[in-house]
Amino acid sequence: MSISKFSHDLIERNVGLLLVMVLLVVSVGGLVEIVPLFFQKSTTEAVIGLKPYTPLQLTGRDIYLKEGCYGCHSQMIRPFRAETERYGHYSVAGESVYDHPFQWGSKRTGPDLARVGGRYSDEWHRIHLNNPRDVVPESNMPAYAWLAKNQLDPADISAKLRAMKLLGVPYSDADITAAPEQLKDKTELDALIAYLQVLGTAIKNKN
Ligand code: HEC
Repeated sequence: MSISKFSHDLIERNVGLLLVMVLLVVSVGGLVEIVPLFFQKSTTEAVIGLKPYTPLQLTGRDIYLKEGCYGCHSQMIRPFRAETERYGHYSVAGESVYDHPFQWGSKRTGPDLARVGGRYSDEWHRIHLNNPRDVVPESNMPAYAWLAKNQLDPADISAKLRAMKLLGVPYSDADITAAPEQLKDKTELDALIAYLQVLGTAIKNKN
């Protein structure tokens, strides 16, 4: 068979061959786009200044998950002007390398929280989480008044850090041993605020 006979005509009349060729073309496209992401520094390495969560922040992150905050808040600023004007620099992959799992999401009943760190004082968050309407009268965010009453249990924080270390977060043995001490006399509210206040701060806010 000469090359000229191997034409679209032949491929389009032969469903099996068409299927194989389609799969071949699609998989090349996929491989070219996806495989390099596993090896590129910009997607696998932490951005400069990114630190692993402290034990208190990591505990706060678990409370964020437990309370389902992600059901109304994304943590992913898209590279569009309307978003960067409002929230600051768009999110980059290197900011999430210590997040297991990351909290990008897309549901935005409330604002994106990817760079909420430092935007408000701890006291503002205390009042807001206790009853959002005390600071934002039109808010429909639920109140989380119990967070201030729940004391943290330091029992499993070392195990959590060890699990994160297994996933590649650079905690030292000293970090892991010292962790329970840092949760002493803290409440769930303290932990959640510590977490919110660090979000997005590795890349400085534009606004
Ligand atoms: C039912 C949806 C809903 C849930 C669940 C929810 N929020 Fe909100 N959140 C909102 C809305 C709406 C706003 C905007 C009004 C306001 O500031 O209260 C908001 C605002 C915020 C803000 C201020 C953001 C900014 O840039 O002004 C923070 C911080 C926040 N939420 C944190 C949380 C945390 C932490 C949780 C979980 C404990 C949570 N939210 C759960 C709807 C929600």
